[in-house]
Amino acid sequence: MTVVWLVVVLAAPSLTLSPGWRTAALFCHLTCLVVGFGAVLTVDWFSLRWLLRRERIGTVLTTARGSHLLIWLGLVGLLVSGAALGPDTSSGLVRLKLFAVLVVGINGIFLGRVSDRLAAAGDGPLPWSTLLPAAAAATISQLGWWAATLIGFWNAQP
Ligand code: HEM
Repeated sequence: MTVVWLVVVLAAPSLTLSPGWRTAALFCHLTCLVVGFGAVLTVDWFSLRWLLRRERIGTVLTTARGSHLLIWLGLVGLLVSGAALGPDTSSGLVRLKLFAVLVVGINGIFLGRVSDRLAAAGDGPLPWSTLLPAAAAATISQLGWWAATLIGFWNAQP
């Protein structure tokens, strides 16, 4: 994950597109945002319903497994299309956004492990040693996605 991120970040400033291709890259960027973040929000929504005892843990895990591919496709698509948009990596805000994207990626790998532990615990009461890492990883994921979205939106303002 870190190597892919580094390649993209180092290559990004040297990429320049014609206005037409830039518009196409921006469209891809926004499409990947909808796909990736949309899938993340769906999983987190089911997790919240589980916390409110309106869903079984099995349903949450099935949703998470089913959304896995969409989340990673969205994130990789955001990295590639974002690099094509030629970010100004000398800007502090852009650096913060790229750091948020790296955190989202690494945290995503950790979330896979967390969901394996949730699956092993089943429908019974969850030990704090499983619940706390799951809650922390879900919070970090939300903070990272929202930070990248807000900074991307803010930077695009004229
Ligand atoms: C979680 C990942 C990401 C999210 C949620 C995200 C979100 C956004 C959003 C909402 C916009 C604004 C689009 C608009 O209003 O026109 C945007 C623009 C942009 N993003 Fe991202 N992005 C992500 C990853 C990346 C990455 C990894 C890069 C670079 C490698 C990148 C580079 C850019 C650039 C250059 C723009 C255009 C800004 C401008 O028009 O000045 N993004 N992004």
